Amino acid sequence: MKKARIGIVTVSDRASRGEYEDRGGPAIREYLDRVLSSDWEPVNRVIPDEMLIVEAALVELCDTEKCSLVITTGGTGPAMRDITPDATEAICEKMMPGFGELMRKVSLEKVATAILSRQTAGIRGQALIINLPGQPKAIAECLDAVFPAIPYCIDLLDGPFITTDPEHIEAFRPKKK
Ligand code: MTE
Repeated sequence: MKKARIGIVTVSDRASRGEYEDRGGPAIREYLDRVLSSDWEPVNRVIPDEMLIVEAALVELCDTEKCSLVITTGGTGPAMRDITPDATEAICEKMMPGFGELMRKVSLEKVATAILSRQTAGIRGQALIINLPGQPKAIAECLDAVFPAIPYCIDLLDGPFITTDPEHIEAFRPKKK
């Protein structure tokens, strides 16, 4: 079985300069270790909030590193330097707005400022890219909501067959007709 490669991208000026410990990237990795029952390997990046740098990192992870899933954390808000969703949209062929809609809906049950996140998702080639907010606690809150649909989305892109531990996430695959 092909091992899934998963990009984990922390978008943060301070973390990329080493002024601040990256807590988002490790939180995504721990989440995936807990939830995935199929083999996978991470491809990590910590980069500043620069449009061209974020675009280039996402392109490299999808096209060269052959990641089937790329998860970003940070840079989704309204501040001047928050550009992760814009960079995602710039390099994707298709947007998947349902991911952002659902993640904001569940986040709003936890925090009123959930509406400040412009987090989205999209498809580039055979990769699904998903944006998460920068708060480490937002990672599980958001991924718990959308993860049931991720393995089937990757099936539809002819990617590796991803399985989850049903104690954490019950992946949903519609029955074949
Ligand atoms: N969503 C969840 N689940 N939990 C959070 O703490 N923080 C919000 C929002 N979404 C948050 C959340 C806040 S305060 C902001 S400003 C936006 O995400 C954007 O965060 P980002 O710029 O770090 O991506």
